[in-house]
Amino acid sequence: MNTTSQSAPKPAYVRIFDTTLRDGEQSPGCSMTPQQKLVMARALAELGVDAIETGFPASSQSDREAAGLIGRELRDTSLCVLSRCRPADIEASVRALDGTVRPRIHLFLSTSPLHREHKLRMSKQQVLDAVAENVAFARGFVGDVEFSAEDALRTEEDFLAEVIAAAIAAGAGTINLPDTVGYTTPNEIRGLFQRMIANVPGARDVVFSTHCHNDLGLAVANSLAAIEGGARQVECAVNGIGERAGNCALEEVVMALKVRGAYFDADTGIDTRRIVATSQLLSRLVGMPVQRNKAIVGANAFAHEAGIHQHGMLRHRGTYEIMRPEDVGWPSSQMVLGRHSGRAAVEQRLRALGYLLEESELDLVFAEFKALCEKQRVVEDADLQTLMQEGAETLGYRLASMTVSDAGHRARATVELSDPDGQRVFETAEGDGPVDALFGALAAATGVDLTLESYQVHSVGLGADARGEANLSVRFEEKDYEGSGTSPDIIEASALAWLDVANRLLRQRRTAQQEMAAA
Ligand code: KIV
Ligand code: ZN
Repeated sequence: MNTTSQSAPKPAYVRIFDTTLRDGEQSPGCSMTPQQKLVMARALAELGVDAIETGFPASSQSDREAAGLIGRELRDTSLCVLSRCRPADIEASVRALDGTVRPRIHLFLSTSPLHREHKLRMSKQQVLDAVAENVAFARGFVGDVEFSAEDALRTEEDFLAEVIAAAIAAGAGTINLPDTVGYTTPNEIRGLFQRMIANVPGARDVVFSTHCHNDLGLAVANSLAAIEGGARQVECAVNGIGERAGNCALEEVVMALKVRGAYFDADTGIDTRRIVATSQLLSRLVGMPVQRNKAIVGANAFAHEAGIHQHGMLRHRGTYEIMRPEDVGWPSSQMVLGRHSGRAAVEQRLRALGYLLEESELDLVFAEFKALCEKQRVVEDADLQTLMQEGAETLGYRLASMTVSDAGHRARATVELSDPDGQRVFETAEGDGPVDALFGALAAATGVDLTLESYQVHSVGLGADARGEANLSVRFEEKDYEGSGTSPDIIEASALAWLDVANRLLRQRRTAQQEMAAA
């Protein structure tokens, strides 16, 4: 009998090199002050990234300051700064890294024919010499030097191999092969990494790194393929920010390795439960919203509205979710109740709110729910409670008719509403424009005075099916309220959105009064 016990081989460890503060930050609309970078760097360290690239010291005073601030505070994470292959850049990097416990200098030089000829005006030999000299020069200051062959994926393979060999011989410990312009494909990059690691002298003693841009939407797929080819560091940015279409999105590559760990046989050190908070922090810092349908961190990533999907989810969450929202930091999956939702989801939500209904009662409530969905895009818990407590006629103010004219120097709007008791209310108001006049008339008719925080209109659908959608948000008594309305007419959609918010607010007020009376 064979008694030797064999433990299963461990999955390969893939280092996460975060370049949110360098490649991400240098892209339009994403710039950050040194203080903001420090806040973000703290969050990245908590997230568990292996290295943070804080900036490009030779390029700006702000980047030098950020490197210093972060370097004085973060002791456990490797902190990296970018440098061209020039002694003056390297010296600027060394000064910026002064006091950093785990410093890394990241040198780069273009290697592709297009860049050599038109950008650098350097021969192959000059590129090779510059790489060898500058890597060695940087190694004179720090033990950890990374070299990037910019535009590697459009470089002649034999020349790329020579450059990599020169960088390794001069002391680089990490070799990064960037797909600078997002041009490669998964098969191509996988093969390149395999061949370079197998054939370049010294390649097995260093870490190969991948850095993919998203110009064709392939950055994550290409990074994963590079990992399959042997890369053990992936360069990425939170929310995928970065030059042009961005970098490989950190949250996507990390979750792909986690969810498909067995397939890739690789893992990272990221605390995935911090992903959403980190994404939202970045979005607030740079003022760039995350698109709703963005994988992992978009508001819709774990939201289900379609009846068939909600039904499946209620039976077994695995039917429509491949990871748990809690594992990336969302509180839970979201069953959005709206026009596409079915009875099962409405019943389940009502049950969670404490209402156990007979079939016939559910029929009635479901019909009222569907009617409500014609007026508002999303039905909240408070709306369901109103349906249950007070019946369909007390849903709030409803728009019966409206006219808006903008002929004179002041616009004029008249609205006819039915109030929560079914009584008709008419009001007219003037304003600086049609929407201003309309909102004035609605405020007069309902007695609710809203101060708008934001008001957006856009069209949904195409051609004859196109509808206007209006979204409003207001702040009232230190709470935020949002509302939306859709209609073929954008002014009517705005009125519906305004009433959506006002009714929500009135219901909230009424519930608070009832609770106070009951207490
Ligand atoms: O995309 C790129 O090539 C880069 C290098 C500087 C690493 O960002
Ligand atoms: Zn880049």
